[in-house]
Amino acid sequence: PLVSMKEMLETAKAENYAVGQFNLNNMEFTQAILQAAEEEKSPVICGVSEGAARYMGGFEFVVDMVKAYIKAYNVTVPVAIHLDHGSSFESCVQAIKAGFTSVMIDGSHHPLEENISITKRVVDVAHAVGVSVEAELGRVGGQEDDLIVDDAEAAYAIPSECKELVEQTGVDCLAAALGSVHGPYKGEPNLGFDRMEEINQMIGGIPLVLHGGTGIPTDDVKKAIRFGHAKVNVNTESQITSAQAVRDTLAAQPEQYDPRKYLGPARDAIKTTVKGKMQEFGSSNKA
Ligand code: G3H
Ligand code: ZN
Repeated sequence: PLVSMKEMLETAKAENYAVGQFNLNNMEFTQAILQAAEEEKSPVICGVSEGAARYMGGFEFVVDMVKAYIKAYNVTVPVAIHLDHGSSFESCVQAIKAGFTSVMIDGSHHPLEENISITKRVVDVAHAVGVSVEAELGRVGGQEDDLIVDDAEAAYAIPSECKELVEQTGVDCLAAALGSVHGPYKGEPNLGFDRMEEINQMIGGIPLVLHGGTGIPTDDVKKAIRFGHAKVNVNTESQITSAQAVRDTLAAQPEQYDPRKYLGPARDAIKTTVKGKMQEFGSSNKA
C-alpha cells in the first residue's frame, strides 16, 4: 500500500536499519524497484525528482504509474512516493495534490531563517493531509538533475542549526549534509561521523537521511545507520548498472533494435542493485 515515510522511518530508526529511497527515472526503474521491494519483503521509498517527473509526464502520471504497478504486481510491502529535492513550496503542494505521500523541501541553499520558514509552510500543508516532510541543511556536493553544488560550496550541516530547524518546523526527517556527494565520488567519501553523532543527539530522535548513497563503503553506511540514519538515497548506482547492461547487450548484439531486448537487461540490473542495497541497509524482511 501507499503510505507516508513517517512510520516506516520511525520503525527503521528504532530497529537500527535504513529504508532505501530509490529514484524513478522511467517505467523500467519503477518496475524494478517495486519488484525488488516485494521480493525482499522490504519497505521502499520511490524518489522522484522534479526533473524525472517532467521526463515521465508529470507528478500525477508518476503517482498513477506507481499505483498501477502496485496493483499489477500485487505489492503488499509499504511504498512511499516521495518528492526528491523539492525546490519550492509550490512544487511540494503540487506533488501533494497529485498524490505523493511524502515530500522533501530542499531549502538548504537559503539562509537558515528562510529555510526554516519555507520548511514550516510545507510541513503545515503536508501534515494536514498525512504527508511526511524531509528537510535539508548543509550542502550535498555534486550534481543531480537541475541541482548542481560545487565542491567548494559543499558544506557540513551545523548541529545547532539542525536542532533549531527541527524544533521550529516539526519535520519528520532531516538530510544533514556531512560530506556525501550526488553522483560518483572522486576518491573516497569522507563522512563527518563526529558531527553526525552530535547532530543525531541534538535533534530529538527524528531520523536522519543520507543523500548520495552511491559509492559509500558498506562499513560507512552501517556506521551512518548506527548514528541515526534511517533513510539512504540511491540513484546513480542504479543508473550506472543499468547503462552498463544496455552497453553490454548492444555490444554483444550490434544488430539488436528491440527495446525490450536491451531495456529488459537494464531493468534486471536495477533490480539486482536495489535488492543488494536493501540487504545492505537491513530493510529486507522488515515489511
Ligand atoms: O536524492 C537522491 C540521492 O541523494 C541520490 O544520490 O545519485 O549519488 O546515489 P546518488
Ligand atoms: Zn539527494
